[in-house]
Amino acid sequence: MTRRTYATDEIEVGWDASLCIHTARCLKAAPEVFDVHRRPWIVPDAGSAEEVIGAVAKCPTGALTVRRIGNVDPAEALPEQPNVLLVPNGPLMIRGQVEIVQPDGTVVRRSSRVTLCRCGASENKPYCDASHRRIGFSTADEAPEPEPLPRVPEAERESPADCG
Ligand code: SF4
Ligand code: FES
Repeated sequence: MTRRTYATDEIEVGWDASLCIHTARCLKAAPEVFDVHRRPWIVPDAGSAEEVIGAVAKCPTGALTVRRIGNVDPAEALPEQPNVLLVPNGPLMIRGQVEIVQPDGTVVRRSSRVTLCRCGASENKPYCDASHRRIGFSTADEAPEPEPLPRVPEAERESPADCG
């Protein structure tokens, strides 16, 4: 399992390869900071701290984390309650502070961004590892979703298209 950190005087960015499903959202959000054709591929001081924090917040899996030096939490804006996005032909994307808990009560992960497998093919359960693309997982047969409740403003939701 590869976990790396990339620091400036202001912030420290962490990347957990086992959680990255290559959605490329970080690359789109801050291409000068995140560049897979460069080594190291993350250069946090190529952008402002705010820009890096904003890009990390777009990572749906929690593979990317960031903290301000001296702080644990970069004060990421989170929804009041966790919400679960049903990604078409893809995973369950949870946004908001959640804990992954084993049957004996052991907390194995705390994160504000978690992407869970619902295709059954992940080799990194309970997390999605992008195997849904390999197996051609389809949600086309799912029952229609119930009437949506007006809880999370649409503006706070991100397009799930690049996770499918
Ligand atoms: S946004 Fe997260 S999951 Fe997507 S490529 Fe970047 S690190 Fe990987
Ligand atoms: S939903 Fe992505 S691996 Fe199962």
